[in-house]
Amino acid sequence: MIVCICNNVKDRQIKAALASGVDSMDGLKAALDVATCCGCCEPMVNDFLEEHQAMSVDSELADQLAYAV
Ligand code: FES
Repeated sequence: MIVCICNNVKDRQIKAALASGVDSMDGLKAALDVATCCGCCEPMVNDFLEEHQAMSVDSELADQLAYAV
């Protein structure tokens, strides 16, 4: 699915960038040029970023709980 029409950036490219360690909107902009033109896609890109960050926190918490038990 194309997320950024201006720069032809797809959701899987955003997910791949996040999985490779990009962890900010500025990082995504630098890596993919996403949300660097009209900005209409920025809320959706932010949703991907927040979802990734929430999953990372859940993973860290699960690791800590596993270590504590
Ligand atoms: S749709 Fe992404 S910058 Fe325009």
